[in-house]
Amino acid sequence: MIEFDAVGFGALNIDRLFNVNEIAKEDEESHIHNLKTYCGGSAANTIIGLARLRLQTGFIGKVGSDEEGKLLLNDFKREKVDTKEVAIAKDGRSGSVIGFVDGQGRRALYVDPGVNDSITLQRTTLEYCENTRLLHLSSFVGDQSFQSQKKLIKKIPKHVKVSFDPGMLYARRGLSALRPFIRRSFAVLPNKAELKLLTGEEYEIGADKLISEGVKIVGVKMGKRGCYVTNGKIKHKVVPFKVKVIDTTGAGDAWNAGFIYGLLTNRTLINCGRLGNLIASRCISRRGARTGLPQISDLQQQGELLE
Ligand SMILES: Nc1ncnc2c1ncn2[C@@H]1O[C@H](COP(=O)(O)OP(=O)(O)OP(=O)(O)O)[C@@H](O)[C@H]1O
Ligand SMILES: [Mg+2]
Repeated sequence: MIEFDAVGFGALNIDRLFNVNEIAKEDEESHIHNLKTYCGGSAANTIIGLARLRLQTGFIGKVGSDEEGKLLLNDFKREKVDTKEVAIAKDGRSGSVIGFVDGQGRRALYVDPGVNDSITLQRTTLEYCENTRLLHLSSFVGDQSFQSQKKLIKKIPKHVKVSFDPGMLYARRGLSALRPFIRRSFAVLPNKAELKLLTGEEYEIGADKLISEGVKIVGVKMGKRGCYVTNGKIKHKVVPFKVKVIDTTGAGDAWNAGFIYGLLTNRTLINCGRLGNLIASRCISRRGARTGLPQISDLQQQGELLE
């Protein structure tokens, strides 16, 4: 019996965002107006998006035995994401991000990967992955967890589809380092800049290049221009939903949730792209990466897309 529709494997972070009057440079001083704390991590945001759409979900990751770790685990539990494969490290800190945002929305971010970068593959991890229809991967800063992901995808059975959002961190490693991921991926979901970095080509040719490496579907996120989706034969540019943009944090992760939801419910490729744009548009209408992610019941007016 397959237990999960989708399992995520990626970093888990507590994001602390300070609103400041100015981002201080060396030897300068600035002041803080406000502090907001969010649970984050790319694959984690995507999995929570899928859980709100009532799919059965789980997560592979690692937190520390600290308050931040508790927050991250409780957030998953509240969203009904299974946490059996989230390891709790005895030593080390949970991953965190400290960010400074000024009045114009400019940001300076400092990432502390903490225990995210020391994930090792357990026997139970492989068993966990045999019980999902789809495994969604996002990036880590360090090498050990990258290697663990690589080992895992070599071992998981054929019936498990893999979706992969390389982000800037992995795109920078280049195509040959990522080939084991690309070859095993059913869907690769970069943004335009990451695809360019990865393939050296603009998005249409870049996507074809990934298809020629064995990927079945490429979904390219293009910010306010929406997205481009292709399986090598069908190619669609999909226009975005018009919304008032409040905060684009996590837009790409939300897009992944909509797109993967489409894949798992057997929609046409263009409708998968529309669903990605739809969930992303809800995300960017609210502050924070997860706040705007809709429940199924919030999407009733999108009837034809969800039939
Ligand atoms: N201004 C906008 N108006 C409408 N939709 C938008 C806008 N900006 C982003 N989106 C939606 O969000 C999706 C993802 O955004 P984007 O292309 O910036 O992803 P990303 O760079 O991976 O984001 P992230 O920084 O979260 O990783 C787009 O494909 C689009 O559907
Ligand atoms: Mg992204």
